[in-house]
Amino acid sequence: MQNHKSAVQRNQALAKKSGEFLIGGDLRVTRLGFGAMRITGDGIWGEPAGRAEAVRVLRRAVELGINFIDTADSYGPGVSEEIIAEALHPYPNGLVIATKGGYVRPGPNQWVENGKPDHLRSACESSLRRLRLDRIDLYQLHRIDPKVPAEDQLGTLRDLQAQGKIKYIGLSEVSVRQIQHARTIVPIVSVQNRYSVTDRGSEDVLEYCEKEKMGFIPWFPLAAGRVSGSESPISRIAARWKASPSQLALAWLLVRSPVILPIPGTSRVEHLEENVAAAELKVDVNKWQELDRMLPAS
Ligand SMILES: NC(=O)c1ccc[n+]([C@@H]2O[C@H](COP(=O)([O-])OP(=O)(O)OC[C@H]3O[C@@H](n4cnc5c(N)ncnc54)[C@H](OP(=O)(O)O)[C@@H]3O)[C@@H](O)[C@H]2O)c1
Repeated sequence: MQNHKSAVQRNQALAKKSGEFLIGGDLRVTRLGFGAMRITGDGIWGEPAGRAEAVRVLRRAVELGINFIDTADSYGPGVSEEIIAEALHPYPNGLVIATKGGYVRPGPNQWVENGKPDHLRSACESSLRRLRLDRIDLYQLHRIDPKVPAEDQLGTLRDLQAQGKIKYIGLSEVSVRQIQHARTIVPIVSVQNRYSVTDRGSEDVLEYCEKEKMGFIPWFPLAAGRVSGSESPISRIAARWKASPSQLALAWLLVRSPVILPIPGTSRVEHLEENVAAAELKVDVNKWQELDRMLPAS
C-alpha cells in the first residue's frame, strides 16, 4: 500500500472500494470524495501555482472513481469552482458537486461570514454560473452567520430549493443544537465539520448524523496535511500497517462510521493517487480496534 502505484494501475475505479452513501436518500456517491480547496493560491486566494496540475488532479480523481467533489464560492474566491468546470464540464453522469456560500473574502486567509439573504441569493447564482449548472446538488451554508437570524439564512436556502436552484441543503461547522434548530426550518441532509483521527472534537455531531442517517463530511481529514508528512504522529503505526500515514488516516475515517464522507484535498496527482489507495486498505475489525486505541486523538 505504501507503494500505491500498482493498486492505482490495477484498479482504475479504486475509489469505489470505499463504499457508497446516498446523500438525501438518493444521491449515490462513492464515500471517498475530493476536497477542491487546495486547487487555489496561497491563503486559498487567487490562482493555484499550477493550474494545469489542478486540472489533472480533478480529471484523475474522476478517473479513479471519485464522484463527490466539495468546493465553495469562497475558495479563490471563485477559482476552485471555475477550475472544476474547466476540468470536468460537461460533467459525467452521477458526478455530485457540493458547494457552499456564506463567506466573503477580503484577502488571503481572511474569511468573513455573510448570511444576509441578498448575499446568499447572489452567491448561489454565481456558483451556478461558474459551475455551469442549472441546479446545485448539495448547497452548504458555510457558516451560520451570528449577525443574521438563522431563520433568514436557512429560509433563503429553502426558497432557492423551492425555485429548483438547489437540490439538497447541508450545514458546516455546527453543533447538534444548531442542526436540530435548522431542521425545524428546512430539511438538512449533511453536516461538514472539522474532524480527523487526531481531531475528534465533533464526535457528538458525528453520532447525531449517524443516528439521523445524514452525511458527515469531515473537513481537514488529513489534519490539513499534519498527519501526512514524515513528522506525522501516526507514521510508526501506519508503517506497521504497510500504509502511508495519509492512507491510514483516511481508512480510519471510512471505518469509523458509514455516514462519513472524507474529502481529502490536494493540489498534486501523486498525493491524490496515494490518498485514493486508502479505499483498498482492508483491516480486520478486531485488529482495527487495537489500532484505534493506539492512535492519538485530541
Ligand atoms: N467547511 C469548512 O469550513 C471547510 C474548511 C476547510 C476545508 N474544507 C473542505 O475540506 C477539504 C479538505 O480539507 P483540506 O484540503 O484543507 O485539508 P486536508 O485534506 O486535511 O489536507 C490537505 C493538505 O494535505 C496535503 N496532502 C494531501 N494529501 C497528501 C499526501 N498524500 N501526502 C502529503 N501531503 C498531503 C495537501 O498538500 P498538497 O497539495 O501538497 O498535496 C494539503 O496541504 C477542503 O479541500 C475543502 O473542500 C471545508
